Amino acid sequence: MIEKLWGGRFNQPTDKFVEEFTASIEFDQRMYRYDIQGSIAHAQMLARQEIIPLEDSEKIVAGLQSILADIEAGNFEFNVSLEDIHMNIEARLTERIGPVGGKLHTGRSRNDQVALDVRLYLRDEIKTILGFLDQLQEAFLGQADSNLETIMPGYTHLQTAQPILFAHHMLAYYEMAKRDASRMRDVLTRMNQMPLGAGALAGTTFPIDREWVAEQLGFDGVTRNSLDSVSDRDFAIEFCASSSILMMHLSRLAEELILWSSADFKFISLTDAFCTGSSIMPQKKNPDVPELVRGKTGRVYGNLISLLTLMKALPLAYNKDMQEDKEPLFDTIDTVKGSLKIFADMIAQMSVREANMRGAASRGYSTATDVADYLVRKGLPFRQAHEVVGKTVGYCEKTGKDIPELSMEEFAQFSPDIDEDIYDFVTLEASVNARVATGGTARSAVVREIARARAERKG
Ligand code: ARG
Repeated sequence: MIEKLWGGRFNQPTDKFVEEFTASIEFDQRMYRYDIQGSIAHAQMLARQEIIPLEDSEKIVAGLQSILADIEAGNFEFNVSLEDIHMNIEARLTERIGPVGGKLHTGRSRNDQVALDVRLYLRDEIKTILGFLDQLQEAFLGQADSNLETIMPGYTHLQTAQPILFAHHMLAYYEMAKRDASRMRDVLTRMNQMPLGAGALAGTTFPIDREWVAEQLGFDGVTRNSLDSVSDRDFAIEFCASSSILMMHLSRLAEELILWSSADFKFISLTDAFCTGSSIMPQKKNPDVPELVRGKTGRVYGNLISLLTLMKALPLAYNKDMQEDKEPLFDTIDTVKGSLKIFADMIAQMSVREANMRGAASRGYSTATDVADYLVRKGLPFRQAHEVVGKTVGYCEKTGKDIPELSMEEFAQFSPDIDEDIYDFVTLEASVNARVATGGTARSAVVREIARARAERKG
């Protein structure tokens, strides 16, 4: 039987099933690097403050480094009866360097240790996520660059509304991804305070130097209240909330990609690498990747609700409930990373079927608003102009014509204010390129926004 690190007051061994039930080693082992990094800084601080002798600290640090090497080489067996990553590493340390290993936990508790480890781990993962977000933003800009002449129907209520540039549509997602990145950076800023030194909950009786440890570990400062330090999981919740918004954005794009690649739209093709076939219907090429990302959005929302519910009404300070924070957090990290990475590649490689987009834009009377705006410029109040164009569209529906195909005589039936120059306003290009105000779909406005995006990414 393995000796428990906390076994002193116990007379009976832990029930085998209880041991398995309460253990977190199956999932918290992924934090090993950060647990060791935190322990090394702590051990060095203990020596600097003369809480333990320098030679003991050096032995501890060397021992921890050799454990790190073993884990990375796959030569470390994690043991369920040692419950979690913290005790697995500490027990191995003492096995390796003798009783001096037991000095590492001076002035520290697993409660502040785990608070530190999760922050260190999440901090690195957010940096990776920011890298993927950056690649995705680049993919949107790349598609925008190549589609400055591609006109598609813009929709409201999924009904043809007004023509837009496909580049403009891509830039809409660029803006969302930019806000997602800014939310992730906010999470990083707020969470970057060092909790170690809180001990179990009240602080420690040893003369520790928290600020020095914080500096070693790249924190901006130290947490200011020991109870809060070991109780706070806001940062994990904030990360899951930002991830939920991010996934909501990806799910909207996923839905559009699924629609656009269908036989009814035929606006885009996804490369074969991102699709699969059907085992029965030979003609099928299914957009599995966007479908899965759309589906995975659900588990990310679920993880946010799990964490909020987990923390709800928990009394201060640490409670074992909080061990349950890890799986939803880790699952969110994995899902977001995977979804971003695959979307960045898929968007970059997606091909656009320009003629089909254009064809769809020229159906559905997408330039009707331009006729109304034309009449307003001739002095008609907008509501009246709306009425006139409504009747014109009714006529088009009956005769099977589109607005630019109407003759002057036909236009004249609806308003005496319509002149020959109407044809300069009702083409798709004219409609798009009239929307020049900042944020509009005119080619000139879109070119400006691409340049602006590139400049802000450099700067
Ligand atoms: N495995 C635990 C967790 O993840 C570490 C902290 C345990 N502290 C305690 N007093 N049982 O929350």
